[in-house]
Amino acid sequence: MDFDNLKDLVIRSRCYRIFDSTYEVAHKDLVDLVEIARISSSARNSQPLRYAIVDTSPQKIEIFTPLRWAANLDWDGPKLDEMPSAFIVVCKDINLGEFAMVDAGIAISNIMLGIKAKGLDGCMLASIDKPKYKQILNLQENIEPMFAIAVGKAKQNVILKDDTNTKYYKDVQNNHIVPKLPLKDILL
Ligand SMILES: Cc1cc2nc3c(=O)[nH]c(=O)nc-3n(C[C@H](O)[C@H](O)[C@H](O)COP(=O)(O)O)c2cc1C
Repeated sequence: MDFDNLKDLVIRSRCYRIFDSTYEVAHKDLVDLVEIARISSSARNSQPLRYAIVDTSPQKIEIFTPLRWAANLDWDGPKLDEMPSAFIVVCKDINLGEFAMVDAGIAISNIMLGIKAKGLDGCMLASIDKPKYKQILNLQENIEPMFAIAVGKAKQNVILKDDTNTKYYKDVQNNHIVPKLPLKDILL
């Protein structure tokens, strides 16, 4: 892969929020995604992250229900028939690694690229219900949920646009527009 291929993958690796709920993601694909998280960089190589794959009901619906989607939009989030096919819940062992949040960012970024490379679509979400997830996933005392990653086949277009206003929005064609600050505004 050259730089242009990598940049193209990053451009296409967006957060999607409306999915084809009938689409089935192979369990092996979800395990493959955790595998690239497993080999991602970790501060002091302490590897505090743990992953729960949720791709069966009713657990999937219990993970989906508390999520809050696209806070910038006047929208209640995807309906049940627009929900993703699966979730990967990123957790941390609270006894390991003071940089778990940074490790999670790196691991999630790699998972998101992996999702797109597999022809799938995803969204990372911090708006989870930690106590409820802990119960649903039957986690040990020392394991704390941090993020959910939705995985599935999107039924929406997400388009990047250079703009100084960072608020994402829907255009008249119902495309989800994600403004990114122009390079000249972030290069110091
Ligand atoms: C740390 C973090 C937490 C996020 N939490 C949520 C969330 O709870 N709900 C949601 O709909 N999107 C969430 N997102 C997705 C962002 O809204 C999204 O990255 C942003 O709108 C830019 O879109 P893009 O990822 O396609 O560039 C989160 C993203 C990050 C990096």
